[in-house]
Amino acid sequence: MQKDFLSIRDLSVYEFGRMLDKAAEVKKHPGKYRKALKDKILAMIFQKPSLRTRMTFEAGMLRLGGEAIYLAPSDIKMGSREGAYDVGKNLERWVDGIMIRTFGHQIAVDLAASCRIPVINALTDLSHPCQAMADFLTLREHKGALSAVKLAYVGDGNNVCHSLMLAAARGGTKMAVATPAGYEPRPEVVRWAREDGRDTGFELALTNSPEEAVSGADAVYTDVWASMGQEEEKEARARIFAPFQVNAKLMARAKKDALFLHCLPAHRGEEVTDEVIDSPNSVVYDEAENRLHAQKAVLLALMGGKED
Ligand code: CP
Ligand code: NVA
Repeated sequence: MQKDFLSIRDLSVYEFGRMLDKAAEVKKHPGKYRKALKDKILAMIFQKPSLRTRMTFEAGMLRLGGEAIYLAPSDIKMGSREGAYDVGKNLERWVDGIMIRTFGHQIAVDLAASCRIPVINALTDLSHPCQAMADFLTLREHKGALSAVKLAYVGDGNNVCHSLMLAAARGGTKMAVATPAGYEPRPEVVRWAREDGRDTGFELALTNSPEEAVSGADAVYTDVWASMGQEEEKEARARIFAPFQVNAKLMARAKKDALFLHCLPAHRGEEVTDEVIDSPNSVVYDEAENRLHAQKAVLLALMGGKED
């Protein structure tokens, strides 16, 4: 394992599979790991709001026998009060790992480069790797072999979509991404996914048609139309993304037993209807639960945790 977990790209195909195995093992036998990170402290830097990420990292550290310290945006004012480099240089003197949720991805990269302790990306504008680990654990639990899954992503080609593509490349998962024109995933991430998935059976189709992407899918994923930091674009995006709503009519094009996934928080009535998110095929709360298990596996791998 590398020192940091900033991107799904930090995991080889093999390490990705092993990390999912570890997450499943920790989920099945949590008691075996209750002292695994005893005396370890994780600093959690948040420059954006959170429910799931804060709860699952903090609860995860506590359940592994360690501790977590929450640093709210107003606490350290990273970027204006002091930069990522000095934050990292200080934190490494006191704690054993850092989790960061921020805007520009380079901030997380700079923080990681500044210190000797592991840094975990808990969402940047580019990616959300911990989310993708939880999502692929969920897919595997419900559908079995990831190489037999066709995953359709409908909506903004954003941070969540990027990490899903890189995870699909490692899982050998077939993926179709439907976005409005101009909101496609970044070209470099498309290139990385194709390179990384060359030998895994990964396939990637990019389209502007949600119907085409969802056709025959085993799982349909969406995310908010306006991400954190894009609030001023909310109205314009609502118009542009309206044809990309995941509703019962769109889901009818997927396989009959197709799962519905969403990283949450969901804006019900916008990117997804109540009918879909509350349907028996929706696994959104399984994904939320799996954030805990998947991140425990990441914390154990990076912070040196051993089972009892
Ligand atoms: N999915 C996710 O990261 O949720 P939060 O923004 O609530 O942490
Ligand atoms: N794309 C969303 C994900 C939130 C978990 C955002 O960046 O706000």
